[in-house]
Amino acid sequence: MRPARGGGAEVSGFVLWFTGLSAAGKTTIASNIVPELERRGLVVDHLDGDIVRTHLSKGLGFSKEDRDANIARIAWVASRVARAGAAVIVSAISPYEEARRHARSLVEPHSPFVEVHVATPIEECARRDPKGLYAKAFAGEIGEFTGVSAPYEAPVHPELRLDTTEATPAESAAAVLARLEELNLVSSEVVR
Ligand code: ADX
Repeated sequence: MRPARGGGAEVSGFVLWFTGLSAAGKTTIASNIVPELERRGLVVDHLDGDIVRTHLSKGLGFSKEDRDANIARIAWVASRVARAGAAVIVSAISPYEEARRHARSLVEPHSPFVEVHVATPIEECARRDPKGLYAKAFAGEIGEFTGVSAPYEAPVHPELRLDTTEATPAESAAAVLARLEELNLVSSEVVR
């Protein structure tokens, strides 16, 4: 069995990949996990779709081709950073199964890949609508909007599936941490 991470002694990283609809809770849960992993002695990087699109993927849109390019770039960076020893957290809609499979295939030769499907139903995402995008998408003002006018292919066998409708971000983050402990990727021991 793989030794538990943390405690400052381990150098092997992993990729924790959140996929799900816009406003499902991916970024919020990921942001809650970052300090928890750091407290366990891990070096952590968080690659969030909205942020990556202002830098590495600037200029890309939301066609299948552009989304695939976005995910391939994120996956490539994540694989490199995990290989160097960090825990890399990705939060991006990543709606296409094939692009996620490609991401996994880049990472798994040297680091574990943990896919978390934030499976909050579209009705709840649209009810939250923090950026007002669902309202615009339903009104036809934004094209190719995931779940409305563009597909979301749910993962068949994610390492974890969460529905945030009834859960607080802290509860969802705790479920992810418990799964990482179960997979022996983090230690339950707090070192910082
Ligand atoms: S992905 O499909 O390429 O993985 P990514 O996670 O980087 O998407 O970006 C999604 C974010 O872009 C959403 O949270 C939303 O704020 C914004 N966005 C703008 N237009 C769209 C669209 N047509 N479909 C989905 N998200 C969109």
